[in-house]
Amino acid sequence: MGRVAATSARIGTVGAQRPRRLRRTAALRSLVRSTRLSAGQLVMPLFVVSGHDRSEPIRSLPGHARLSVDRAVAQARELAQLGVGGVLLFGIPDRKDAEGSGASDPAGPVPSALRALKEAGLPLVVAADVCLCEYTTHGHCGVIHEGEVDNDATLPLLAEAAVAYAEAGADIVGPSGMMDGQVAELRAALDGAGHAGVAIMAYSSKAASALYGPFREAAGSTPAFGDRRGYQMDYANAREAMREMELDVREGADILMVKPAVTSLDLLVRAQKRFDLPLAAYQVSGEVAMLEAAAERGWIDRKAAALETLTAIVRAGAGIVITYLAADAARWLQEDPR
Ligand code: PBG
Ligand code: ZN
Repeated sequence: MGRVAATSARIGTVGAQRPRRLRRTAALRSLVRSTRLSAGQLVMPLFVVSGHDRSEPIRSLPGHARLSVDRAVAQARELAQLGVGGVLLFGIPDRKDAEGSGASDPAGPVPSALRALKEAGLPLVVAADVCLCEYTTHGHCGVIHEGEVDNDATLPLLAEAAVAYAEAGADIVGPSGMMDGQVAELRAALDGAGHAGVAIMAYSSKAASALYGPFREAAGSTPAFGDRRGYQMDYANAREAMREMELDVREGADILMVKPAVTSLDLLVRAQKRFDLPLAAYQVSGEVAMLEAAAERGWIDRKAAALETLTAIVRAGAGIVITYLAADAARWLQEDPR
């Protein structure tokens, strides 16, 4: 009995099944690789400020800076040359107020950058994040009434910002505030203003995450009181994430997004089975900061770790990856396509 079991086990491994056959050479591994990355699926976030020839490095995101419009256009030109698929714009205004009115100022950094990018005619998609937190003195994603973020009072302000970005030339607007009904509100406002062709990338399943720290440092958008758990999702809830996506589909979203990326891989797998819209994942600032910090200490190999995380995000189901590593990844893929 023991002998029989040992023999069949040996046939199992030594006979037909030797997975290592296809791992022998780089050429074989490349032939059978089932997830491929390409620069065209990557989107680079850019932080835009006022002024000219301004580049203020972001301490916790090495290689990234707050850029004036001219510098942002130069950066976008380089990204286009690398074959990167798009840029996602965030604005940091000179002055903030309680209502975040700077978000819809046509003279603000984002509309200015959008107009300049349109003028430049680069072969990449230009998307603009739509939220109030970069523009409010209190750093919350909506207006405050009686100590709480007022969902319905925030919606028209988000819509106004989205229309301003569409007017300035955005291909895509991405509402990231996690207000209920924000996608429907934006769709109606865009259509009403003659921008039926502007797409909505919904931050559908955006978790209240500890991984947004470097972004908030860059944008000066750390909440002055409380936190965002009253509107961003509890990262523990997968079924609720599906419900958020379902609502966004019904409200008219064109692209669904999950965020952060590596902590939402299961959500991508589920979403892929359930929805037919393009899926995006946002590899957020803290995910990249962890990688950068460890690489800087020589604890991990930066390029290898970066490509591994990006590949895992695509393997899980994202067709679009928003990542601060877009430029480096595009360069690596040029040298060594995978
Ligand atoms: C604004 C917004 C945030 C991010 C994208 N849009 C910050 C937040 O919710 O506090 C995070 C992106 C990142 O960390 O890279 N609503
Ligand atoms: Zn926000």
